[in-house]
Amino acid sequence: MTAPAAEQDPASRWWRDGVVYQVYPRSFADSNGDGVGDLPGLIDHLDHLAGAADSLGVDAIWLSPIYPSPMLDGGYDVTDYTAVDPVFGTLADLDRLIEECHRRRIRVILDLVMNHTSNLHPWFLQSRQSTTGPFADFYLWRDPSGWDGDGRPEPPNNWLSWFGGSAWEWEPRRQQFYLHTFLPEQPDVNWRCTALRAEMWSMVRGWLDRGVDGFRLDVFNAFLKAAEMPSNPEIAAGGSIPWDSQEHRYDKDQPELHDLLAEFRRIVDSRPGTMTVGELFTSGIDAAVAYWAPRHLVFDWVLLETAWTAASFRAAIAAREAAWSGRWPAIVLSNHDRSRHVSRYLDTLGRHDRATADALAKAAATIELTLRGTPFLYYGEEIGATDIAVPRSRARDRAAVRMADWWNRDGCRAPMAWTADATAGFTSGRPWLPLPSDAASRNVEQQRASERSVLAHYRRLLALRRGSTPLRTGELALVDVGDPDVLAYLRRAGDEVTLVVVRFGLRGGEIELPRAAWPWRAVLSSLGPVTPTVGSRVEVRPLEAIVLER
Ligand code: GLC
Repeated sequence: MTAPAAEQDPASRWWRDGVVYQVYPRSFADSNGDGVGDLPGLIDHLDHLAGAADSLGVDAIWLSPIYPSPMLDGGYDVTDYTAVDPVFGTLADLDRLIEECHRRRIRVILDLVMNHTSNLHPWFLQSRQSTTGPFADFYLWRDPSGWDGDGRPEPPNNWLSWFGGSAWEWEPRRQQFYLHTFLPEQPDVNWRCTALRAEMWSMVRGWLDRGVDGFRLDVFNAFLKAAEMPSNPEIAAGGSIPWDSQEHRYDKDQPELHDLLAEFRRIVDSRPGTMTVGELFTSGIDAAVAYWAPRHLVFDWVLLETAWTAASFRAAIAAREAAWSGRWPAIVLSNHDRSRHVSRYLDTLGRHDRATADALAKAAATIELTLRGTPFLYYGEEIGATDIAVPRSRARDRAAVRMADWWNRDGCRAPMAWTADATAGFTSGRPWLPLPSDAASRNVEQQRASERSVLAHYRRLLALRRGSTPLRTGELALVDVGDPDVLAYLRRAGDEVTLVVVRFGLRGGEIELPRAAWPWRAVLSSLGPVTPTVGSRVEVRPLEAIVLER
């Protein structure tokens, strides 16, 4: 694929060459002692991210939603798309954040939640009143399919809510049901309504005018449902959650979505240097690839769902390379919806000690920052954070509580540990979720002071990636180094070649390096200083990742 002229300019290629860092604003840094992170707190900690000598060195931040919200779904239930929730600050704080980020060459990506609003959004408050009026069609209203023996209305079809139960909620005032793919308090908007569309696009233009550099699109592939809304086919042997008992043929991934996305992308593309990333909702990698376009990335979940074994990672990387051939993937190991990757990998290994956690964090980071694609780091992973245990009595994620035991998102949303203080330098008050239990010994301040820390390894990797054409843009080829416990791949750009080898298990051993590119020079090991010159064989210690160049 030949890149258009604008793509040759490094400033507009950051969506491909850069590294994005996800901030969960409630949990990053609290400036006013209310126990909840906020924008001024984030501004105070920008040097951690970029612009100072000892910064991590990321290129962009994606902020999970900062809009006014009753917070039933962590801010993914929005009551005003054009403002900032007072708990996070003001629009003036956001302007200052954008300015401070740009001064440090950090781009700012906002989270757009355009599949649904909060049921307290003024549009919905009006829409639910009556079947006429300017907002009547802003949501997906349908008549009951019938009435049961007790005179109760029956839902229009069999669609399910992702959070459990029917996707339909009855509104007595309209004598109709409305659709909610998520919580009943998150009604889905009607993208076939031109007035709704116009409101959304003017909101998008407004944020671009304010200086944001792009958007993450929440569950974008659910925006359009089949116009006639037929029931979904049932699957006899459904999966582990009720949602999996149906084939979701009619409630997401509709063909007309491509035209809708094209409208959105034209608006974004009219501003040079912007990008978007779409969050794919429960669809597979082929769907992700089909929605992709230059400057418009799409998450697939293959890597995030891969277990910590060399064989699983090899298969995942092969599947992704095949699917994304000629296109550009995103790389994600953790986010605000899943258990943190170090916790998952520790469980696989059946070990929970500090040394194993650190070694895993570094080895995983090496993969994340050397694969082909744009890495999305999740706040805290750069210090090797693991999930926290949240007792049910302190659970804050209402949606997860409703899903009973199989999903707890509070665990991956702990306050960031900045210092060894009693409140981890996160707040002067009572944190909204428990602090990580190891905050006194696993925090930014301590790791900044140690060359052997997880943080130091992330910084080295980011610097290496920035200076390496093969790591940023090269082709990827898996190689067999004769040891099933070692994942190995080459990144190649012209004559420049980089080799990455990673051992997943707890028993070390020597491997044979690929002959094609001898002699190799080791440039980085996750376990400490390297001896640059290596022969034809190299020792790979337990959980060690080594980067070599020719
Ligand atoms: C996305 C968000 C998740 C939220 C859901 C509904 O999947 O990442 O946190 O619960 O959308 O908005």
